[in-house]
Amino acid sequence: MNDFDYLGEGEVYLDAACQSLRPRPVIEALEKYYVKHNSCGERVKYEWGKITDSLVEETREKVLKFLKLSPRKYTTSFTLNTTYGINLILSQIDAKHFDKIMTSEIEHNSPFLASLAFSERTGLPREVMKRNEDGSIEISDYDFTKAIVVVNCAANFDGRKLLNIKEYCKAIHKAGGILIIDAAQAMAHSSDILKGVEVDAICFSAHKMYAPSLGVIVWRDDLLRYLEPLWLGGGMVDDVEKEKFVLSAENKEHRYTRFESGLQAWGEIVALGEAIDWLEHLPKKDWQNLEKNTEEIYEFLNSSPKVHLINKKPNPTMSFYVEGLDSHLLGEALSRENIMARTGYFCVHYYLDHVLGLPPLIRFSFGVHNRPEDVEKIKMVMKNVI
Ligand SMILES: Cc1ncc(COP(=O)(O)O)c(C=O)c1O
Repeated sequence: MNDFDYLGEGEVYLDAACQSLRPRPVIEALEKYYVKHNSCGERVKYEWGKITDSLVEETREKVLKFLKLSPRKYTTSFTLNTTYGINLILSQIDAKHFDKIMTSEIEHNSPFLASLAFSERTGLPREVMKRNEDGSIEISDYDFTKAIVVVNCAANFDGRKLLNIKEYCKAIHKAGGILIIDAAQAMAHSSDILKGVEVDAICFSAHKMYAPSLGVIVWRDDLLRYLEPLWLGGGMVDDVEKEKFVLSAENKEHRYTRFESGLQAWGEIVALGEAIDWLEHLPKKDWQNLEKNTEEIYEFLNSSPKVHLINKKPNPTMSFYVEGLDSHLLGEALSRENIMARTGYFCVHYYLDHVLGLPPLIRFSFGVHNRPEDVEKIKMVMKNVI
């Protein structure tokens, strides 16, 4: 694909689940910010600032539109990454409104540890739920009464999804709980799972959806009633006296400032808007190419007798180990052939190491930048190595 024309011949990048490669239009949007309207958003009256303000505003709107959520109910705030977003929300939630915090066994350390820290800090009990092989959760197995639930809607080692997210969200709300979704792995290739589902907050990393490094929190305005502001500073207040202040977030128009202390990554925010347009206009053939590459490699790995694949079905993200072969050594061998894949537990230590008892794994995560020749090369090199 031309938008990744900087990829050298034979370079096979298989780490899209960590950071997708950025397409040219996104890189150009970022560069344009630096060379055409480098300016601080929301504060300045000169022309460059007005351009930045209008593009940042557009990105906020595009995020909600992409997720099919109404601006009447939801707000978009920018942060650093998914981890920061989840921790930021949990650090502001006043525990007195809730009875417990719940997460699931297949989580990235990001919600897993943040929920653990929340429980230790507040004294609220923490429950770790099981996930079915398809990624769903047995709703009837759990009591969500006044629970803060933090789970992913797509896993980062095999892409399994929270298939019953709608019913799940309903059950949690009915019981007086709230649902915070880690959508880090959903936004690039599986956003359909989330669209229009009225959860309480969604945290994701723009760098995993073909955009620059940036975090996003999409939050339901109702969440405000549970929050106590803790992180304060520039860009968040309308007035400050010696001992008191007025939060800008109290003005409905500026409620996004609730999670945006200090100067933001304006260029990255603008370029996220470009990435959303780019993703939404991606030709069908590019999606088909991703699907085909994924299926071919899934079949190849599944039919190799020594390969133990974690995936039960094809997904652009696949993890496995090879019998008798250390995954880290395999990763290095692949690297010598210019194949860039990840090894280890991918920050899912609890589930992969302690629940499943697996050895360190190797992960191939594909993106729309991958070419058919990548697949051929992977097969050839893997055959030789194994
Ligand atoms: C499912 C999931 N959640 C959270 C994260 C954390 O993302 P970040 O490091 O961008 O905060 C990742 C990163 O890979 C992830 O895959």
